Amino acid sequence: MDLPPLTKREQIRESAFSTVWSEQLNDAFKNIAPYYDRGNQVASLGCWNWFLRTFMSMIELQPKQRVLDVCAGTNAIGIALLKREPTLEVHAIDRSTDMQEVGRQRAEALGFHINSVIADVHTLPFPDNHFDVVTLQFASRHLKIAHMFGEINRVLKPGGHFYHCDMLRPSNKVVEKVYYAYLRLCLSGTGLLFRSSPAVLNLIQYFIDALEIFYSTEELSILLEEQGYCDVTAKAMLSGMLGCHRVRKPIPEGINKTAEESARYPQNGPRDDALPPTS
Ligand SMILES: C[S@@+](CC[C@H](N)C(=O)[O-])C[C@H]1O[C@@H](n2cnc3c(N)ncnc32)[C@H](O)[C@@H]1O
Repeated sequence: MDLPPLTKREQIRESAFSTVWSEQLNDAFKNIAPYYDRGNQVASLGCWNWFLRTFMSMIELQPKQRVLDVCAGTNAIGIALLKREPTLEVHAIDRSTDMQEVGRQRAEALGFHINSVIADVHTLPFPDNHFDVVTLQFASRHLKIAHMFGEINRVLKPGGHFYHCDMLRPSNKVVEKVYYAYLRLCLSGTGLLFRSSPAVLNLIQYFIDALEIFYSTEELSILLEEQGYCDVTAKAMLSGMLGCHRVRKPIPEGINKTAEESARYPQNGPRDDALPPTS
């Protein structure tokens, strides 16, 4: 498939998928919620925890920071963050009450509290410059992602970090073909195993179509820079089938940095310790 240039990609994604995003996805996640976590373990052939560990290894935390997990689903990220740093103030936002209810029970069973907001994430109901850290995992294929990156930038404090992880489009054509064939097989398989509703089974083709026109790891880095982030660090996994990004909201010139920020970011350029992209 010949991909449209980056400047047109968002427009094309939106016109191709806006009906699925606004009318069909929420019904699918209502059905998926009770088996979402087990389904992911099966579909990833047991690699799910490795994906989570890899993403978490990129995330830097300080005690008592205020964190927002966007499209939080069953709170996999919020719980992993609180296990690492129990003093965090964690907020979750997701449109699905069913996914968040599973997430609330999971967090509560471990003695954690996560503040939950049920809403469409395209307009984040939070003030500007509010969060130290924002995370977004496994949902951006279903979002107007350039707009979303801008909205996340708005709610991040200057100097705050945004961490992103998702299934991405591999740059290598052979890997891409194998990936889609595998996805088709495993989505049908998990659909059968967990007796998914027609609302889910009807979206199998969408899941592949959405990925086919989505961004590669390198393209997502460009998109993040275009939305005003700096210090973009990318890590590709499984030949680009998955990618994680760590970026920072720049501190405007003239704003006093804390001593720690000054030591770490003498200017808003790339950090010396930024991880090189890997594949
Ligand atoms: C694949 S799940 C990912 C959940 C979680 N981040 C994780 O890593 O397991 C995608 C989540 O995105 C949510 N979602 C998709 N589009 C959304 C939107 N426009 N607004 C709010 N939530 C949305 C769904 O309800 C679902 O819980």
